[in-house]
Amino acid sequence: MRVAVIGLGVIGRVHARILRENGSLGAVCDVDEARLADYTDVARFTDYTRLLDDFRPDAVHICTPHHLHAEMVIAALERNIHVLCEKPLCISHKEIDAILRAEERSDAYLGVCLQNRYNPANRFAKEYLADKQVSAAVAHVAWNRDADYYAAADWRGRWESEGGGVLINQALHTLDLLQWLAGKPESLVANVSNLTLDGVVEVEDTAVILGEGKARLSFFATNGAGEDLPVEITVKTDAGILKILPKAVLADGELHTFESNAPVNGKVCYGNSHGTLIADFYRCIAENRPFPINGREGAEVVRLILAAYESRGKRTAVR
Ligand SMILES: NC(=O)c1ccc[n+]([C@@H]2O[C@H](COP(=O)([O-])OP(=O)(O)OC[C@H]3O[C@@H](n4cnc5c(N)ncnc54)[C@H](O)[C@@H]3O)[C@@H](O)[C@H]2O)c1
Repeated sequence: MRVAVIGLGVIGRVHARILRENGSLGAVCDVDEARLADYTDVARFTDYTRLLDDFRPDAVHICTPHHLHAEMVIAALERNIHVLCEKPLCISHKEIDAILRAEERSDAYLGVCLQNRYNPANRFAKEYLADKQVSAAVAHVAWNRDADYYAAADWRGRWESEGGGVLINQALHTLDLLQWLAGKPESLVANVSNLTLDGVVEVEDTAVILGEGKARLSFFATNGAGEDLPVEITVKTDAGILKILPKAVLADGELHTFESNAPVNGKVCYGNSHGTLIADFYRCIAENRPFPINGREGAEVVRLILAAYESRGKRTAVR
């Protein structure tokens, strides 16, 4: 496999390190030439279409700002180049539809980097819940992103380029886990607000979602906490209570702990499952079997978030 990374910012460098370690990094691309300086041993591009057409990688990892994901994913799929896209898959319904059409037409695989689905505690919870009826679930994300964080990259904090705030960026992983574990709501009521960064960013730093489907879901997220606190998910089933923490699950009063030896890549809050997800993506391609987080799966949480932005306190259908 000759693999390329597009976007060498915070997370692109994590992808590049993992691919370098497994010997498959063949090319990198960033519009900022200074960011190519650490990659003299591979092919380097500033224009991603040149990378796709001239280098022709077998697969490409998209690690660019949110508003560029759709165009880059579609460009790779149209050339039958496998593509692993960082979250979120994209930021609008129109983009979701265009990506799913391109995925259907392509011979290549599309994967979305929702790495927390690979955390051992979350995998245990998914298996545990397989034969249970979920009646309600709640998740909390209380993290801190201040003005300096937003000043570090100009695409963040703007509706046009980030597509939203805490929901579509930091809390997306936990909202995805909530719907993956407890079921996707058919409708929701939500409010989003900017409680600590008004005048600094356009987008929300705090959000509340109440969803209704087979189970009732509650979701609370803020970037205005004192620091990044561990996320928590609690699920009520016909068998009892399941409490999921980053490295432990309390299932009906019994504590299961999970230690992973995988290295932490990037910030601690990203977890350490990027390597596991990337390995599984390439295993699926090699064995010609579906990668579990394809375009349709990666779009589910984006549809939820778009419904939350549309809601403004009114009940809204989730598409
Ligand atoms: N899965 C995770 O846990 C996780 C963690 C962090 C970031 N992310 C996601 O990764 C993506 C990137 O985030 P980041 O924090 O690394 O951003 P960043 O701003 O640090 O990096 C983005 C990079 O893309 C480059 N870029 C911009 N336009 C480009 C273009 N047209 N062609 C090539 N390169 C271009 C920029 O120069 C920059 O180097 C976002 O979607 C973000 O949500 C995911």
